[in-house]
Formats: sequence, structure tokens, C-alpha cells
Amino acid sequence: MPPGDLFVAAPSAVSIYEVGPRDGLQNEKQILPTDRKVELVEGLIDAGLRRVEITSFVNPRWIPAMADHMEVASRIKPREGVRLSALVPNMRGLDGATRAGMQEVAVFMAASQTHNHKNINKSTEEALRTYRGVVGEALSRGMKVRGYISCVYGCPYEGAVPLDDVLMVCHELLDMGVYELSLGDTIGVGTPRQIEYVFRGLMRSGISLPQVAVHFHDTRGTALANITVALQFGIGTIDSAVGGLGGCPYAPGASGNVATEDVVYMLQGMGVETGVDLDRLVAISARLGGQLARELPSKYLKAHLGHCARLGQPVY
Ligand code: HMG
Ligand code: MG
Repeated sequence: MPPGDLFVAAPSAVSIYEVGPRDGLQNEKQILPTDRKVELVEGLIDAGLRRVEITSFVNPRWIPAMADHMEVASRIKPREGVRLSALVPNMRGLDGATRAGMQEVAVFMAASQTHNHKNINKSTEEALRTYRGVVGEALSRGMKVRGYISCVYGCPYEGAVPLDDVLMVCHELLDMGVYELSLGDTIGVGTPRQIEYVFRGLMRSGISLPQVAVHFHDTRGTALANITVALQFGIGTIDSAVGGLGGCPYAPGASGNVATEDVVYMLQGMGVETGVDLDRLVAISARLGGQLARELPSKYLKAHLGHCARLGQPVY
């Protein structure tokens, strides 16, 4: 298909940041055994993913599905060209990640006060104070630090979130030294014009867009549309979860992250390189659906399963 000029600003390649093993599994009823988690991460890397968030060093009383963080992180061997990361909410989490040999961590907070109280038991100001120490310490240990901001497009408790609150948290985290901001539509309420509004706001406030990743949940079916808007702003990193797994336990009603295979399929069709082997990826997704004993939300997976059923072919 000859290129038109609608997507002229879209990059020729993007980096997919896979959050399935963490954001995807943290809210699953059926807790995946550690062996299966390790296999999942290895499989994702084999399928071409080069950035994978593998677990979170949070309190297991809050998130039981991530209680095996130390074992998962210790068992996955570093590979050339692959960056593994883990969520850390405080110094204790950072120390755990350091002991497990992680070289990259991510701090996370919301742009809304209530979500911060529910999710990390801190006000926005307390979270910023905590992370100033955590990010500084991680950098002094030679780690890279990513910063998540959730509820950018809406909060399950407060509704609309003022753009100024989002920008304030963005600038604070950048000032601490995070190398990238991941802007989360935690409850999947964003629509394309709103993405444009937020991105224009980021640009006006002097934030360089190559430092920004998009993190959409597909709760209301708008994630891919939102990604196409972000691509036109030249965004280079897209967060997604294999199978469309996920949801934040402290964001009622939040369903899956946009599925990695749906993103890769769309980007391939648009001529945007991801380095991911779609056949291998959908095979992982199909296997994962079986392990979790549920139908995963990914649209590409559903099409694949339907196709295999019609032709009598194995799904993986
Ligand atoms: P707290 O209860 O305020 O912590 O929790 P505390 O400092 O008062 O300590 C209480 C107990 O927790 C103590 O144990 C600590 O040792 C322990 P005790 O003495 O009572 O036995 N503790 C820990 N244990 C293990 N690992 C730790 C840790 N820290 C303290 N790191 C805390 C505060 C932040 C720890 C808690 O609220 C927590 O773990 N929250 C995590 C919540 C979470 O993971 N949510 C899902 C993240 S998803 C998200 O945020 C959105 C995102 O995916 C993007 C998007 O989708 O938009 C990123
Ligand atoms: Mg998410």
C-alpha cells in the first residue's frame, strides 16, 4: 500500500514495553505459578520483546499475585539487548529489586490524590517525597528508572483529572531523573481528542515527547485509536500486555491493558517496525488463556483461535 500523508509524523519503528507479567498478572484471580511466570517472560523475549516488566516489589498483602517477586526476578537471566524492569513503591522495594539483580526499576503514582491513597497509601505529596529518595538512590546504584503516572485521562474516584496535576507530576518525576514517563489511562476512559489535548499540553510545558510512553487500557475499546493519535505526535514507546491482560486492583472497573498482539498487528499493517514475531506472540497468548482458564480479551487472539478452529489447526 503506498504511504499516504495522514501518518507522516509516525515513527518508522517503536519500542513495545511489555507489562503482561506485572500489570497483566497482578489482578488475576488465578495466580500463575512462578515456573509459568518465568516461562512467560522467556517466551516473550524469544518472541522479540526487548523491554519486559517482570514483577513488582510491593507488599504481598496488597498484591498477592506478585508475592514471588524475588524468585521471578532472580531466575530470569539477563540477555543481551533485553531490558527487564520491576515496579518499586519505596526503598524496601528498591532494596529487594537490587538484591534480585534488577538494573531497571519503575516508580508509580497517580495524578489524582484519591488513587494515590488507595493504591500506595500516600498523598500525592508524600508519594513525590518518597520517590525523590527512591529515584536518587536507584540512580546512585547505577539503575535506570522509569516513572508511571496513572489516571492521566480520568480517575475512578475523582473523575476528570486536571491537566495541570498531570503536568506537575510529570515535571517532578523528570526532575528526579526518571528517563521515561509512562502516561497511564488506568481505567480506559480516554478518547482521541483527549489524547491530543494532553499531548499538546505536554509539548507546551516543555516535555520532550521521546521521553513519553503511552499506557492505554482497552476498557472501552478506545486504546488502538488513542495509540494512532500518539503515533502522530511521534511517540516512540507503547506499553501493552500479552493477551490484553490486566487491571489495577485499586481502580475498580479497570480491565485489560491494550493487547500486545493487537498493537503489533496494527503497527505491522501501518509499516511501523516492532521487532516482534506475531505468530510466536499469539501462541504465548493462547497458552496463557489456557493456564489462566479464561478467555483473554485480545482481539487478535480471538481471530487466531477462530481461524485455527475453522482450519482444524493447533492454536500453539
Ligand atoms: P503501607 O502499608 O503504607 O506501608 O503500604 P508501610 O510502609 O506502612 O508498611 C506496612 C507493612 O508493609 C510493613 O510490614 C512493611 O514492611 C511492608 P509489617 O511490618 O506490617 O509486617 N512493606 C512492604 N513489603 C514488601 N514490599 C514492599 C513493602 N513496603 C512496605 N515494598 C505500599 C505502602 C506502597 C507498600 C503498599 O501500598 C503497596 O504495596 N502498594 C502496591 C500497590 C500496587 O502494586 N498496585 C498496583 C500497581 S498498578 C498501578 O499503579 C498502575 C500502573 O499499572 C499504570 C496504569 O495501569 O495506569 C503502574
Ligand atoms: Mg496498566
